[in-house]
Amino acid sequence: MHRTWSASGKRVLARLGYDIRKIDLCRQREVGYGLYSYLNEDGTLDYERYRQIQIEGNKRKTERVWAIEENIAFLSRYIERVIGLPRFGLCHGTRRGLEQAWFREYLNCEVLGTEISDTASQFPDTIQWDFHDVKPEWVGAADFIYSNAFDHSYDPEKCLDAWMSCLKRGGLCILEHSSGHGVSSVNQLDPFGADIAMMPYLIVTWGKGAYGVREILNAPKRGNDVQYLFFIIAQKW
Ligand SMILES: C[S@@+](CC[C@H](N)C(=O)[O-])C[C@H]1O[C@@H](n2cnc3c(N)ncnc32)[C@H](O)[C@@H]1O
Repeated sequence: MHRTWSASGKRVLARLGYDIRKIDLCRQREVGYGLYSYLNEDGTLDYERYRQIQIEGNKRKTERVWAIEENIAFLSRYIERVIGLPRFGLCHGTRRGLEQAWFREYLNCEVLGTEISDTASQFPDTIQWDFHDVKPEWVGAADFIYSNAFDHSYDPEKCLDAWMSCLKRGGLCILEHSSGHGVSSVNQLDPFGADIAMMPYLIVTWGKGAYGVREILNAPKRGNDVQYLFFIIAQKW
């Protein structure tokens, strides 16, 4: 029988000295970060399983919006201040597509969103596309990239390399990172998780001198369910 514990049930058990936790699904864990492995026993990627899990997750949460308009307005002002008026931006893992709609409004430029689920066609300026892949016309073309879905990557190094390849030199890639993106949140739907303190190390290591971390911004607004919310600004040097 599958059974989940309510918060009050957990509190009662905690008073009795018991701690009920979900079984750890994270199959690869290094210091400060974890990755749920989608590899088959022979080392190849079980891409179909990854795709199905992401699409099911998308459809289960189809009404939800994670991005916050006030934060997108804040980031728009930041982008304008650092690189001037952009012409083209990409948002990755956008579900209902509100982030690209807000960036379009605040920056008055072309912004496209990617979404792995076939629900993409229901939302404006959204294409059904796996964000690990790069469209040839995007290479070196984007002024900025924004995503709050980096934790959905099955291979974060491959993924960030792909995103950074789409930026112009000096372009910005904004990774939204909350307390919900940590190691303990890793599961098959959110395969990648890292402590916030680990993220600059990972990004600089993956960047190999081609990109790195410019700064980390505290979000002006965060949901009640997260303890912190940062924007990690990666820049293509
Ligand atoms: C946490 S939700 C965030 C949705 C949206 N950005 C928001 O703020 O409401 C992550 C989204 O990324 C999508 N996604 C997951 N893996 C993806 C991939 N490889 N390529 C493109 N989209 C992906 C999921 O289907 C889901 O809609």
